Amino acid sequence: MTNQVPNDLPPLPQHVVSDRLIIRPTKRKDASCLQKWWNDPAVMAPDGNPDGMQYDDSDMEDWLRRYVDGQAYATHFVICLREPKEKPIGEFYIACDDRPGCVDIALAIGETTLWGRGYGSEAVESYAKVLFASSECNAVRLDTRRDNSGAIHMAKKVGFVVEHVWANGEFQTMLLTKAAYELRQYTAEAHS
Ligand SMILES: CC(C)(COP(=O)(O)OP(=O)(O)OC[C@H]1O[C@@H](n2cnc3c(N)ncnc32)[C@H](O)[C@@H]1OP(=O)(O)O)[C@@H](O)C(=O)NCCC(=O)NCCS
Repeated sequence: MTNQVPNDLPPLPQHVVSDRLIIRPTKRKDASCLQKWWNDPAVMAPDGNPDGMQYDDSDMEDWLRRYVDGQAYATHFVICLREPKEKPIGEFYIACDDRPGCVDIALAIGETTLWGRGYGSEAVESYAKVLFASSECNAVRLDTRRDNSGAIHMAKKVGFVVEHVWANGEFQTMLLTKAAYELRQYTAEAHS
């Protein structure tokens, strides 16, 4: 199975580099990191999986065949430190590609000792920057549980606002429009 780019649009950004991070397509060699992060209740609980995902090796193999092998372009990425060994510290993926309207994203910094150092917000902001520069996407959305304070705080730092609340108040969709992103950049530059 290979993925299709909607409406003949070019592939989504495949390789994004920021001050401290590299976001690159997920490869088979990343499976052990992904399995560790997905099975870690500390990583998965904030987004609603208090026991972790409990992926065994067979589940991982299925996932790799579905999302990595033979894909025309990546929708699942690994967030690495921008250093010689490019240590993987988290994952980033496109949950829905509805361009030109919107792209839905999700992410996890799998190494919990690195939470709160700005890596999550840097990953989202740098991907949004490249995505919006392509002129083929007008917004980015992110769904979170409403009790996921870390994710909500991270998203607000980047400029996301709450678009709507759903599932009896358990979840919220947060939105960053291209216009809001550009206004924010313009304002920051004007004050620097
Ligand atoms: C959400 C997540 C990606 C954020 O990554 P991160 O690298 O810690 O993000 P940042 O450091 O850029 O920003 C997090 C901010 O939230 C703050 N924060 C962390 N936990 C918090 C909490 N419980 N309440 C309020 N703020 C919190 C941090 O202090 C930081 O703010 P600051 O820079 O003003 O100090 C990471 O916590 C994670 O992987 N969580 C598990 C998976 C998940 O929930 N994913 C989101 C759903 S898509």
